[in-house]
Amino acid sequence: MTQDELKQQVAQAALEHVVEDAVVGVGSGSTVNCFIDALASMKNRIDGAVAASDASAERLKKHGIRVVDLNSVAELPVYIDGADEITEHLHMIKGGGGALTREKIVAAVARKFVCICDASKLVPVLGKYPLPLEVVPMARSHVGREMLRRGAQPVLRENFKTDNGNLILDCHGLTVLDPPALERDLDGIAGVVTNGIFARRGADVLLLGTPDGVKTTRRKA
Ligand code: A5P
Repeated sequence: MTQDELKQQVAQAALEHVVEDAVVGVGSGSTVNCFIDALASMKNRIDGAVAASDASAERLKKHGIRVVDLNSVAELPVYIDGADEITEHLHMIKGGGGALTREKIVAAVARKFVCICDASKLVPVLGKYPLPLEVVPMARSHVGREMLRRGAQPVLRENFKTDNGNLILDCHGLTVLDPPALERDLDGIAGVVTNGIFARRGADVLLLGTPDGVKTTRRKA
């Protein structure tokens, strides 16, 4: 099976987690694009979707799915999103597409986070994938120095601005042994809007696309 077929497989499986007559939270990235295309088949059975990026909002609208402002939603039963890396503890690195801030906000509101990935994303330890930080432009050098102190090599993502008008520093060379602790630490650096570790609010369910079918892992209570 190709990577695209694995993504389509998990996207289809995620439909089972969508709650009818409710608004669904939708993340961003190529796996989520497959999910949005699959969601179109049940668009008349949902109230609409909250999108974590402008690109996802556009794709939802093209399918005729109503896009709703997060502030107008009282509750969000489920959020479906991909990841750049995920561990068996359902801690993730996200932000490869630069949408990490809105993704973290929507994930925080949702009751259940369902992560959809192909098998290449499952890792024993986070950090091989460069960790994205969304940074206020004037803090770029300060945050860069702070990351060097932590043993990372920060690289400015070139010609890129987030949906919120900020920069992304991709931090290479980290081995994230304690994801919740590093997430908290990085949130404390002045000028970091959001860091790409999703551990304190990790996924509740992982749907992993493998050549042997979709494997489901649930967060241990
Ligand atoms: C977007 O900012 C990311 O958090 C995505 O969820 C992540 O990059 C996964 O994207 P793919 O599904 O394209 O691999």
